[in-house]
Amino acid sequence: MKQVTLKPLQVGLLGIGTVGSGVFNVLQRNQGEILRRSGRGIEISMVADLDTARAQAAVGKDVTVVADARAVIANPEIDIVVELIGGYGIARQLVLEAIEAGKHVVTANKALLAVHGTEIFAAAHRKGVMVAFEAAVAGGIPIIKALREGLTANRIEWIAGIINGTTNFILSEMRDKGLDFDVVLKEAQRLGYAEADPTFDIEGVDAAHKAVLMSAIAFGVPVQFDKAYVEGITKLGAQDIRYAEQLGYRIKLLGITKKTAKGIELRVHPSLVPAKRLIANVEGAMNAVMVHGDAVGTTLYYGKGAGSEPTASAVIADLVDITRLHTADAAQRVPHLAFQPDAMSDTPVLAMGDVVTSYYLRLNVADEAGVLASVTGILAALGISIDAVLQREADEVGGEGSTQTDLIILTHDCVEARMNEALAQMQALPTVLAPITRIRKEELV
Ligand code: HSE
Repeated sequence: MKQVTLKPLQVGLLGIGTVGSGVFNVLQRNQGEILRRSGRGIEISMVADLDTARAQAAVGKDVTVVADARAVIANPEIDIVVELIGGYGIARQLVLEAIEAGKHVVTANKALLAVHGTEIFAAAHRKGVMVAFEAAVAGGIPIIKALREGLTANRIEWIAGIINGTTNFILSEMRDKGLDFDVVLKEAQRLGYAEADPTFDIEGVDAAHKAVLMSAIAFGVPVQFDKAYVEGITKLGAQDIRYAEQLGYRIKLLGITKKTAKGIELRVHPSLVPAKRLIANVEGAMNAVMVHGDAVGTTLYYGKGAGSEPTASAVIADLVDITRLHTADAAQRVPHLAFQPDAMSDTPVLAMGDVVTSYYLRLNVADEAGVLASVTGILAALGISIDAVLQREADEVGGEGSTQTDLIILTHDCVEARMNEALAQMQALPTVLAPITRIRKEELV
């Protein structure tokens, strides 16, 4: 049979920073191996970046470099636009314009898809083009591929992931060195692990963007960032990490989504995780995602969640997918959110007050008779069952001769609204001397 050699697919990059140059370099370096898989060449022929001199230096003289992203979108030779600008602003406009121009789009932009995904996927569906986003969640870990295809036989029950490297690095350092959050954040910024403005990372927003995308794919619901509960790590104290350790737990910032009889849980917050779970031992800037499916049971995916070549690995996997599928009937392609667009569900996302989980509580209390009884009495009256209690020596907490101490309580599962009521009642006790710390606890079984 005569082999027809097709012209390589032409790719235009919008933005060539850390990830873009990784994509360029890995595509060049592994060209032969990638071609053996894709069956058709993939060529970056155009790059848009405001810093044209830097961009030209990164890609060499054979690639056209322009300052105007719209010149890439307008070029009829370009088949795939890779959006690496980030953010919700101009990136949204350019992605929609690229779709309108009939280009397939690859993006690493979790913020854009978590907030505007519904609009973007609908536009892509109308135009019959693909929007691929493996790099948007957990960088180099092929979690989108796993959820959307590898686990397609399953009813997914829950996902829990360490999906922000910056915060995992900070928490690891806090635990290792016994330091407070502020001190470690400064050090992380000095070393370049945390951005100059780390708000999205440390407040849990970046993790929530990723959790929203995984939730949509796992349960066939629309992306709905506005419904996610988001709490970061800024209020965590070194003492809570230490007490958790003494109770056999580690504290991790988890992105969690769960299907329950009442609706979908979608939440990001610090969580106690049993120290013996593999995911509790994911340290530094690494990412890991646990997925529980009814048929497969619990699975775990681990790797680098950011960085030039790990993220490029995911972007190029999308380019290869598009290369294989772009001549296929649009109906034969894997749907953007794993479920057919006409089979999406409107299962509601639960308000945090309706979420059922267990808790770690730390109360700074007066070290006197009856305090423990009054605290546990409130929990008992509200039907909240205690799993463990740890009381520190007053001297250890407040120094020699101290009259206050820390009381740590682990509870069994209860609905969050009831825990809120218990916290309000406990906080009002005159013997509770400082704001109570509450950290949720996940057993992950
Ligand atoms: N800032 C993210 C992190 C990487 O720290 O994991 C990009 O989402």
